[in-house]
Amino acid sequence: AANKLDRDELLFSYKGILYPVTLCSPEVFRAMESLEARSDDIILAGYPKSGTNWLGQILSDLVAISEKKIQNKESSMNDEELEEFPYLEIGDTGKYERMNKLPSRRIVFTHLLPENLPRSIFKNKAKILLLIRNPKDVATSFYHFSNGMSTLPSYETWDDFFIAFMTKRMPWGCYFEYLSKWNKYAADENVMTITYEELKENPVLGVKNIAAFFGISLTEKELQTVVERSSFQSMKKNSQKTHGTFGNVFFRKGGVSDWKNLFNEDQNEKMDKAFEEHVGGTKLGTKLKY
Ligand code: A3P
Repeated sequence: AANKLDRDELLFSYKGILYPVTLCSPEVFRAMESLEARSDDIILAGYPKSGTNWLGQILSDLVAISEKKIQNKESSMNDEELEEFPYLEIGDTGKYERMNKLPSRRIVFTHLLPENLPRSIFKNKAKILLLIRNPKDVATSFYHFSNGMSTLPSYETWDDFFIAFMTKRMPWGCYFEYLSKWNKYAADENVMTITYEELKENPVLGVKNIAAFFGISLTEKELQTVVERSSFQSMKKNSQKTHGTFGNVFFRKGGVSDWKNLFNEDQNEKMDKAFEEHVGGTKLGTKLKY
């Protein structure tokens, strides 16, 4: 019961989806519609714990490389701007007016469903990199993360978390719904999908494809640098600088199949079944090689 009370205090519901009260608010969601998206914006869309920070590192290096070529400057965003702007839905109501004044190219992260994004993103054909990950590993990562962050409800046991994950009691909503909603956009010209697993297996190819999608050309050496700087080891080593005391919470194991350490047979079957029901045979479902 104590757990439940915590949960209710830490999350609020907006348009049927739960969000952490310390990070998001209805006022900010309403203000978001004033964002003027641009065709050269880089939108990184992913459900929490899909590897957002990893892809964010890759994207900011790619932009820094291309800007240096074009304008001979370090990056399109200074450190302060990066600090404020990575997550579209996290900030204050004045954020979008400030974003509208930022120079290109802007990089924006979001965990939102496509229907809750500002319309200008689709109208102005901003390019979206959609990052997806095996739901079992997402749940595993989210469980550990929830217990490491004071902004999120914590769970006494993995079983408690599993029930919450499967019954849509998660901040940013249900992952299966997320996949199912994004499925409708996955074939769009302006959307590229990448899986955590394929990037892990072949980071050189993954980074190459991402760069090509955003029209950024790379030398072989630059490609190697981006891959090296975005490796789990490099990012973990640097994490105190980038994420302070939460470094170890954000950069936990960085691998594939850690779910095998948590799921029992029944939970495994339940998740397979939910996966089939929501995204079995769809574009994203098939890409996840479940
Ligand atoms: P684990 O908890 O399974 O280790 P997000 O950035 O969206 O919050 O996702 C966090 C997950 O991505 C964590 O998964 C984290 O370890 C992993 N991750 C972060 N950086 C990574 C990297 N460079 N390579 C592989 N995985 C990484």
